[in-house]
Amino acid sequence: MYNTVFVLCLSFLAVLAKYEIYEGHTLYNIVVKDVEQAKLVNGLEKQIPIDIWMYAMPGRPGQVFVSKETEQKFLDVVENADIEYSILTDNIRESLELEKERLAAAAKRKSERSSFGLDFDTIHRYEVVDAYLTELSIRFPHFVTVESAGNSFEGRDIKYLKISTTHFQNNTKPVIMLQSLLHAREWITLPATLYAIEKLVIDITERDLVDNIDWIILPIANPDGYEWSHTDARFWRKNRRNGLLPGDSCVGVDPNRNFDVFWGNNSSDDVCSNTFHGTSAFSEPETAIIRDIILEHSDRLEMYMDIHSHGSMILYGFGNGELAPNGLELHVVGVAMAQAIDQVKWVEKPNYRVGNFAAVLYPASGFSSDWVQIAGATLSYTYELPSYRGQSGVNGFLVDPDFIVQAGYETWEGIKAGVRQATNKFYNRVAEKEAILR
Ligand SMILES: *[C@@H]1O[C@H](CO)[C@@H](O)[C@H](O)[C@H]1NC(C)=O
Ligand SMILES: *[C@@H]1O[C@H](CO)[C@@H](O)[C@H](O)[C@H]1NC(C)=O
Ligand SMILES: *[C@@H]1O[C@H](CO)[C@@H](O)[C@H](O)[C@H]1NC(C)=O
Ligand SMILES: [Zn+2]
Repeated sequence: MYNTVFVLCLSFLAVLAKYEIYEGHTLYNIVVKDVEQAKLVNGLEKQIPIDIWMYAMPGRPGQVFVSKETEQKFLDVVENADIEYSILTDNIRESLELEKERLAAAAKRKSERSSFGLDFDTIHRYEVVDAYLTELSIRFPHFVTVESAGNSFEGRDIKYLKISTTHFQNNTKPVIMLQSLLHAREWITLPATLYAIEKLVIDITERDLVDNIDWIILPIANPDGYEWSHTDARFWRKNRRNGLLPGDSCVGVDPNRNFDVFWGNNSSDDVCSNTFHGTSAFSEPETAIIRDIILEHSDRLEMYMDIHSHGSMILYGFGNGELAPNGLELHVVGVAMAQAIDQVKWVEKPNYRVGNFAAVLYPASGFSSDWVQIAGATLSYTYELPSYRGQSGVNGFLVDPDFIVQAGYETWEGIKAGVRQATNKFYNRVAEKEAILR
């Protein structure tokens, strides 16, 4: 009894702390007139600890989340440069509480499942997903295996699934990799990989996707950051590397700036920054794990999709604005995926935009999908799933429980469209090679 009370008190305090750290934060809407203004305001994240939720571009407002301590510095720069801004919310706590209430209510509702599997009512924690992956491998041993890829900085086991009717032994099949939660706070990306697992293992409606492809699915790429975003700081983005500054005044490396591709050229070397690139390329266990999975399969890796949020975008290399050699093909397959999603998306959500990172989002270096593009995947993408309430909503990273199953479903429509094209290309190449040998 005492224990229960004690635990309740502790978790109550934790909830308070989780919201208090955002006391006094303001989310700004930023409207830039030209590229110069965009460069200035977006470049600020490398100099002062602001948190950019959406990069501004001419014709597209940006969202910047600013703490009380940084606010004056930020506004000085913005006002001096005559950049238009307005407040989206100065009461983020209300939004956080709303998300918490709605997710808790959804978890209680818990729809009955007719078969084994995780529900799409709510956002599942690391331990639940971790146990689920193991359970899948036990129930479906003839085509599902679970691998421990190694430990995160804080020692969590990073598991991924291999789905293959030929146990990865048939070298004439393409390998396709899907991944989510490289950025901790992007919770809505988890249902996308869980939905893919559902459709490939439990509720198979498209047999060809199971038979013709060797799948690798990594649902929680950054488990320490992910758990931290549940327990302590909802808007945590990075991993939880500490020990870089005395007293750990700033913690964490941005894993999606830590890959060895133009590393450090267009990211932050400030430990306190949200886009801190680490002390060297692949300095982080979480990114080294992805590198090693990719290298093990690079000879037949056809496609890689790293799922992020938010903004309704499908992005391809490279982050510095150069096009990958197969840029046209990347674009064509990207558009096919976007169109498949647009056909089934909620009407109030914007259409997906497709293009090069630097052109559509913002130039940066060290992206996972850029590195994988160079390391061997013909088709390597970063998805940015839709935000909670449309492009200008205040709640970009917050989750509407009603959208969870839809996020899984619509993203899967996009993935399928891309994967079918990738697989056809792969088998055509194999056939051509055989024709030459004959
Ligand atoms: C390997 O996969 C290809 C393509 O799915 C298939 O045609 C072939 O029969 C498979 N070989 C074996 C030994 O399973
Ligand atoms: C870094 O960026 C600069 C300026 O855009 C460019 O000249 C240089 O080649 C880049 N270096 C790498 C390693 O990408
Ligand atoms: C990063 O990219 C921006 C936009 O292209 C450019 O202005 C800036 O010089 C780059 N930074 C570095 C360090 O190369
Ligand atoms: Zn992200």
